[in-house]
Amino acid sequence: MCGIVGVIGNAPAAPVLLEALRRLEYRGYDSAGIATLIDGHIDRRRAEGKLANLAAVLDRMPLPGVVGVGHTRWATHGAPTEGNAHPHGTSRVSVVHNGIIENHAELRSELEAEGQVFSTETDTETVAQLVDLHLARGMAPREAALTAFRRLEGAYALAMVFAGHPDLMIGAQHGAPLAIGYGEGEMFLGSDSLALSPLARRITYLRDGDWTVVSKTGAQIFDFDDRPVNREIKAVALAAGAIGKDGYRHYMEKELHEHPSVIGQTLRRMLDPATRQVVLPELPFDLATIPRITMTACGSAYYAGLVGRHWLESIARLPTDADVASELRYREPPLPEGGLGLLISQSGETADTLAALRGLHGAGQHVLSVLNVPESTMARESDAVLETVAGPEICVASTKAFTAQLCVLACLAIATGTARGTLGEERAGALTAALTDLPGRASELLTLREDIQAMAQVVAEARDVLYLGRGAAFPIALEGALKLKEISYIHAEAYAAGEMKHGPIALIDRTVPVVAIAPGGRLFEKTASNLQEAKARGARILAFTDADGAPKLLNIAEQIVVVPTVDPFVAPILHAIAVQMLAYEVALLKGTDVDQPRNLAKSVTVE
Ligand code: F6R
Repeated sequence: MCGIVGVIGNAPAAPVLLEALRRLEYRGYDSAGIATLIDGHIDRRRAEGKLANLAAVLDRMPLPGVVGVGHTRWATHGAPTEGNAHPHGTSRVSVVHNGIIENHAELRSELEAEGQVFSTETDTETVAQLVDLHLARGMAPREAALTAFRRLEGAYALAMVFAGHPDLMIGAQHGAPLAIGYGEGEMFLGSDSLALSPLARRITYLRDGDWTVVSKTGAQIFDFDDRPVNREIKAVALAAGAIGKDGYRHYMEKELHEHPSVIGQTLRRMLDPATRQVVLPELPFDLATIPRITMTACGSAYYAGLVGRHWLESIARLPTDADVASELRYREPPLPEGGLGLLISQSGETADTLAALRGLHGAGQHVLSVLNVPESTMARESDAVLETVAGPEICVASTKAFTAQLCVLACLAIATGTARGTLGEERAGALTAALTDLPGRASELLTLREDIQAMAQVVAEARDVLYLGRGAAFPIALEGALKLKEISYIHAEAYAAGEMKHGPIALIDRTVPVVAIAPGGRLFEKTASNLQEAKARGARILAFTDADGAPKLLNIAEQIVVVPTVDPFVAPILHAIAVQMLAYEVALLKGTDVDQPRNLAKSVTVE
């Protein structure tokens, strides 16, 4: 959700800011802008649409200066026009913002009554106007900024520069992340370590309620009571390759191909190769006595959670509730004493999931999070974290982080089953063996591209697509439908296969392909019957199955992709990769913007 960056140094700021914004573009790409100080005066360039448009503007009208701030936007208040693009400000101050200022309307009327003149519809401009008013009344920048921060309600990460102050940049964090980067004779602010890592060897992550005064030589951090606070400076080591496309056409293609290594790395954190046992990091609660799990997440992460629920219930016999975080946070479910809140998030910053985490903590639950960003806000606020080792996921649609989440949840289910005595040693060994085998099977699956391309030809022609699956394959149907919607803009619905006859069957005809997620296993025959019902009504059936299922679907399905055969326990993980590959191939045929689909952003830090 919006990326912000700031630099204060000796080299031209605009190219550095633009480069950092490229690494932040996954957070939003409605519009972008940069402001710098030139001979003490603020100047800015902004453009509607992708960053490439801003780069073109900067080519035509370069922006000198060695101090500046930049922004890439995902619009909340105000249309994504150049006029509403950040930075916002006046002749005295220039501000970039990620988040939402909830009391912006109240502040705007107060400020207008004081004679401040607004030029945009954005909530961010109220911050700039508030600081400007204090500056106009004679406050120094530091005092003006702090006085303004104390009035703001909502979530924000802010960075600002001031006319006439070439060695000053001020930032603040409250509910949206901000990091300080320490360079050689230059300093940075940025939304995440990805933006800063090629620029700064050391990084400090601010906490909510921190604000910082940055100069060329360092940064001081304070709380909103203006007391100095100490925050750790961490070394960062992000390989440049981690943020390049490595010759692939899209980040999504690259990230799909990373599945085998990501699965391997994630499992290595939790599987002892010698004993083949799951070894979780030490947890500050006992999995053996947890009475209930309340699991929550958003989007794909939630679907990973739904698969995890199947595993936790069947393997560990542990009652597990799962709900999307935007619902759970307002649902007020009764929670048992000593229960466990289980959060799943790639970014660790998603606003609804974070709010649910805080709600679960507040209700006295232990909080365990499955996260891909170990420095994220959720990581800091959880009692314990299980890490997915997926590396940076740049494509807005999640792929490798999703399968890494499944791997972690599978290990958690095995560990919990073992702790509770519901999983015998032999079966536990078989399950871990199935997991260990996964990277190789995932590599095999990636070679099936041509089969999936053939299936994509049918899907790409459709206006509506129905995805069906049963048991742990149902959340994979949900994941497949979501991915198709996100990157190809084709309407897709996922249904539990047995539920189809209770309504959606009315939609079925030859123009609505049915994508079946039908791995072999105890539910295969049931799914196959449901597919027969769809076929009888004219549907074209496109099936993902394995070598056990394929012969039985020959007379039902028009096309079959034979996913490598694995233990049914891990089949959802392989089928997840398959449905993601299908969405990618369809998007290629449709010619959509695969990595940056319209209206979307990664890391949704607004409610
Ligand atoms: C789908 C997708 C989203 C995210 C969701 C949660 O492809 O990427 O649905 O899964 O926004 O994000 P995180 O995992 O960062 O909390």
